[in-house]
Amino acid sequence: MSDEAPPPGIDARIPNPARMYNYFLGGKDNFAVDREAAERVLKVAPEAPALARRNRAFLRRAVRYLVAEAGIRQFVDIGTGLPTEGSVHEVAHELDPGVRVAYVDNDPVVLAHSRALLSGTASTTVTVQGDVRRPEEIMANPELRSLIDLSAPVAILLVAVLHFLPDDDKPAELVARLRESVAPGSYLVLSHVTDEERARDAREGAAVYRQASSGVTLRSRERIRELFDGFRLIEPGLVPLDDWRPDDENPLARQARRHLPTWFLCGVGHAS
Ligand SMILES: C[S@@+](CC[C@H](N)C(=O)[O-])C[C@H]1O[C@@H](n2cnc3c(N)ncnc32)[C@H](O)[C@@H]1O
Repeated sequence: MSDEAPPPGIDARIPNPARMYNYFLGGKDNFAVDREAAERVLKVAPEAPALARRNRAFLRRAVRYLVAEAGIRQFVDIGTGLPTEGSVHEVAHELDPGVRVAYVDNDPVVLAHSRALLSGTASTTVTVQGDVRRPEEIMANPELRSLIDLSAPVAILLVAVLHFLPDDDKPAELVARLRESVAPGSYLVLSHVTDEERARDAREGAAVYRQASSGVTLRSRERIRELFDGFRLIEPGLVPLDDWRPDDENPLARQARRHLPTWFLCGVGHAS
């Protein structure tokens, strides 16, 4: 992305969490201001890029599980972000090219990027503007509804998104409202930052986001578990990123990953 001429409607003067995340993932969809803020996070949390990659790996494993083992054929990915590779539809289409994915985000950079990326997959993907703080609007969006059948089970993805909402937004209520809009048998895939380990560093890293377009709210394990109210957490429950159904059984690689602090918890819930 050019630092000189940001697209219309896009503010390149304020750090943006989606673009900082893209920088952590080694992507090019970020501006100087995002890279500077990301470098400040790296000073207190040098593990941030590794955690961003682990978060994407969790997302991929969850999508594969849902398609291959749970029979899910439609996904609503809220807070799509600017992934560098392995978007939800790419992972799902390796297993079934008919899987349908609606990408939802409130950030114009993400929407523009997502639309450009998806131009060749119009029969199975759609990108819509939406804010998780207005769940009914997301689910009523006509473009989303043209692809996603809400009378059949859906997987709602809220991966690394809800920590951008302060408590005043009542994230657990928002998730409950999303659950009420989908059919029984639907799933929730969620990851969220926590300060249960190395709390001071986690808080200093989160503080950098206060100067960005969205702040970060760290939540305890209990508060994150509450986000799954109304869902049954499937095995192995609410766990650090690498522990959710790992597909890499190489013991040395797994041991190396254990050095990462538990700054993310993740899980998959089933609404029966
Ligand atoms: C860290 S990225 C996560 C991307 C992706 N889900 C992942 O885990 O790789 C967070 C994304 O959430 C989006 N986001 C933040 N607040 C949001 C809101 N209120 N409604 C919709 N999307 C939001 C941001 O624009 C950004 O794209």
